[in-house]
Amino acid sequence: MRLDRLLSENGCGTRSEIKKELKKGAACVNGVPVRDGSTQVPEGASVTWHGEEIAGEALVYYMLNKPAGVITATRDPRQKTVMDLLPPRRRKDLYPVGRLDRDTEGLLLITNDGPLGHRLLAPGRHVDKVYEARVRGAVSEREVLLFREGLAIDDADGAFTARPADLEILGREEDLSRVRVTIREGKYHQVKRMFAALGMEVVYLKRISMGPIVLDAQLAPGEGRQLTEEEITALKAQG
Ligand code: URA
Repeated sequence: MRLDRLLSENGCGTRSEIKKELKKGAACVNGVPVRDGSTQVPEGASVTWHGEEIAGEALVYYMLNKPAGVITATRDPRQKTVMDLLPPRRRKDLYPVGRLDRDTEGLLLITNDGPLGHRLLAPGRHVDKVYEARVRGAVSEREVLLFREGLAIDDADGAFTARPADLEILGREEDLSRVRVTIREGKYHQVKRMFAALGMEVVYLKRISMGPIVLDAQLAPGEGRQLTEEEITALKAQG
């Protein structure tokens, strides 16, 4: 939509008043003053008029390094949620894209872009999710092959055959194996259940990436930041 039309539809004044104020730099689109009323405003852009946000809700894309011990929910009467880790002004109408278990750490995307979130999670999309894990026992080439073939899971949470997944052995620490797992779906407790199906227990799990978005190594557990323009573009291309 044109900027002048958007401003007049939001009650910012008559066309001529808006034109005059625009020349003085009263409107900003995504933080940049725009003086030409015929400028097309991109969908979801943040538009301010004399410093006040006026265009709908700006779309927000946030990455959080989720720490262990908080639940992936928008609110909970008793337990700390991932939303409690965001600055209060950022919480409104945001929701996490998918979920990580309470004891899982790492990358969690949080947005108010509902359609994009749904597309990333759609079962047919097969967006890569990469996890690093510590697993009790010796993970070997046998498990690598079984993950690649597609494991049959049948446990208390239900039965399904996992899509082929990549399992990479990173090293050993006493009785633990360090591994990297790439899955392309997001069933409940999926990584833990895949190892459990082979008689192995995941004792530590951290998500490293989701599609093109890689957890920023600068973020300590509990910290987050907005996605960059490049990351948002990559995410939209994937979704
Ligand atoms: N798989 C799991 O088992 N748990 C998570 O939190 C994410 C993937």
